Amino acid sequence: MELTNQLTQQLAVRYPIIQAPMLGITTPEMVAAVSNAGGLGSLPIGGLAPEKARQLIRKTKSLTGKPFAVNLFAHTLPTEVDWDSVEKMQHFLEELCAKYGVTFSRFSEEDFTFYTYQDQLEVLQEEEVGIVSFTFGLLDSLSIALLHKRDVKLIGTATCVEEAILLEESGVDMISAQGIEAGGHRGSFTSNHPLPMIGSMTLIPQVVQSVKVPVVAAGGISDGMGIKAAFSLGAQGVQVGSLFLRSHESAANEAYKESILHSKDTDTALTRSFSGRWARGVVNQFMKSVEASGLSIPPYPVQNSLTAAIRASAKKQGKKDFLSLWGGQAASKAPAKSSREIFDELLSSFRILLNG
Ligand SMILES: Cc1cc2nc3c(=O)[nH]c(=O)nc-3n(C[C@H](O)[C@H](O)[C@H](O)COP(=O)(O)O)c2cc1C
Repeated sequence: MELTNQLTQQLAVRYPIIQAPMLGITTPEMVAAVSNAGGLGSLPIGGLAPEKARQLIRKTKSLTGKPFAVNLFAHTLPTEVDWDSVEKMQHFLEELCAKYGVTFSRFSEEDFTFYTYQDQLEVLQEEEVGIVSFTFGLLDSLSIALLHKRDVKLIGTATCVEEAILLEESGVDMISAQGIEAGGHRGSFTSNHPLPMIGSMTLIPQVVQSVKVPVVAAGGISDGMGIKAAFSLGAQGVQVGSLFLRSHESAANEAYKESILHSKDTDTALTRSFSGRWARGVVNQFMKSVEASGLSIPPYPVQNSLTAAIRASAKKQGKKDFLSLWGGQAASKAPAKSSREIFDELLSSFRILLNG
């Protein structure tokens, strides 16, 4: 198996291994370490203020001259929010925090700000970003035309065949096929009820057969065997997230890293409790309590804003039961090493299998 292919040529990288963007975890240092090692680092800026995004992009550029991707959120904002159920949820969260000693701050309708990818486009152009990946939806046709005019390569996220076809039709250059094993938010955008729940083993070959653009496999990959399997199923690259959660460059705090270290294959679940969108993480008290409340969970990004202050205080207080412990079904494989070492070991375990 060759390590260079259509995907590596399009991305202008040496190896077809992408460090997955992980908002809240991935730092410019992590991105640069992977890009400098010959893979593709990905910098998440989903929902961030344009100036914050610019700072992160500039920081990353100061650490690497190699290509890296900038990752966006491409969802549409809810048109109508039921503020009555938001209030009920807020009241419940206030009592829950009081019970467990977590600092709570009230959120009001006026506090609700969310930056869309359209708000960030100018910064992407000004900073001459060459690769853009995105999740939660399709980019609008004007944005795609604008980015393609500047020769920006686009990677969209699909969790089922229908989404992959829609992404290809919209004009993306590559597709990240995200299996249900993956940590963090689901990229699903055609349906959230029911949510597509397809494992990588079945998703990758079906997506590969349905589109012409290169497919990147994401979800549950933690070693050379996983990469080899993904390539055998027709993927041209892999996107690895959870394996970097405990890296030296990860922004996760100790409580989060400990939970990941001790998680078993059965310890993660999908939940809407933290953000209003389905995401996979290690099950904790917060998830269990919100789900058992029977309350209607406001849509993303409203619930995400409601819980932001709770997550921030839990991070400071080291309370893992109130943190969103996003991680995949193989998250416990994540080593406490530098991102460079993790990348190099992943690559060499793949090479050994190739040569063996
Ligand atoms: C903590 C965490 C945060 C994530 N944040 C993002 C994000 O901001 N944008 C995105 O496209 N994907 C995000 N993902 C999903 C990854 O891109 C990728 O699909 C996933 O990590 C692959 O599965 P794995 O975690 O089993 O390696 C996140 C994943 C994790 C674990």
